[in-house]
Amino acid sequence: MQEEIIIRKAESGDLDGIMRVEEESFLPGDRYPRRYISDEIKNQDSQRQYFVAEYNRRIVGYSAAGIQESGTALMGPVSDVEKELGIHLEATRVGVLISLGVIKEERRKNIGGMLTQARLRWIENNLEDDKKYVFAHAWPNGGFNYLAKSFGFRRVMNWDNREAYSDDSHAILYFLDLNLQGKNDLQTVIIL
Ligand SMILES: CC(C)(COP(=O)(O)OP(=O)(O)OC[C@H]1O[C@@H](n2cnc3c(N)ncnc32)[C@H](O)[C@@H]1OP(=O)(O)O)[C@@H](O)C(=O)NCCC(=O)NCCS
Repeated sequence: MQEEIIIRKAESGDLDGIMRVEEESFLPGDRYPRRYISDEIKNQDSQRQYFVAEYNRRIVGYSAAGIQESGTALMGPVSDVEKELGIHLEATRVGVLISLGVIKEERRKNIGGMLTQARLRWIENNLEDDKKYVFAHAWPNGGFNYLAKSFGFRRVMNWDNREAYSDDSHAILYFLDLNLQGKNDLQTVIIL
């Protein structure tokens, strides 16, 4: 029996497990199609990475992170966000937390936290800018809002919520400056 939870980079063979997590975690209209995730995993590179959490040889959670132009990450002009945060984003690449889910029976065991640590560490290592800014779009009724607080994310109020979920709620945007977060916060041992 595998006693520990392993967080590792996703491979094509993880697709069935990832889709089970996706189905348990999101409403039908908010799920990524299998074909999309399959292509994403095949095309992983230094700008896009998927992670899985494995327990007893079963995929119990997955997450994804990317590095994008700031305008792509924020789905449009960045000026209001720049003003609110007091930072310069134009022509800057930023880290983005893209997707996160954990199967219901294994929630509240810090798996979402470990998958998020893995994503932040990956962004820290792959974002070449000196300034390491991270954004996350969160479903207001989802669990990332709790995690955002524990990782020190700040909610961006001045962002025009463009993304609607199938329960008619609108995305919340979170911001984290990895340079200020403190390296020790990302040091927890994770098997990658
Ligand atoms: C979000 C999700 C991945 C969290 O996974 P998880 O493994 O249960 O999260 P963790 O156990 O790492 O919890 C991290 C923190 O959030 C808190 N938390 C998580 N879910 C919570 C809830 N429903 N109510 C209160 N606190 C909660 C935990 O107590 C913990 O806080 P702490 O670090 O201060 O102790 C999981 O709830 C999920 O898959 N939800 C459905 C999909 C979803 O909402 N995804 C995010 C999309 S934006």
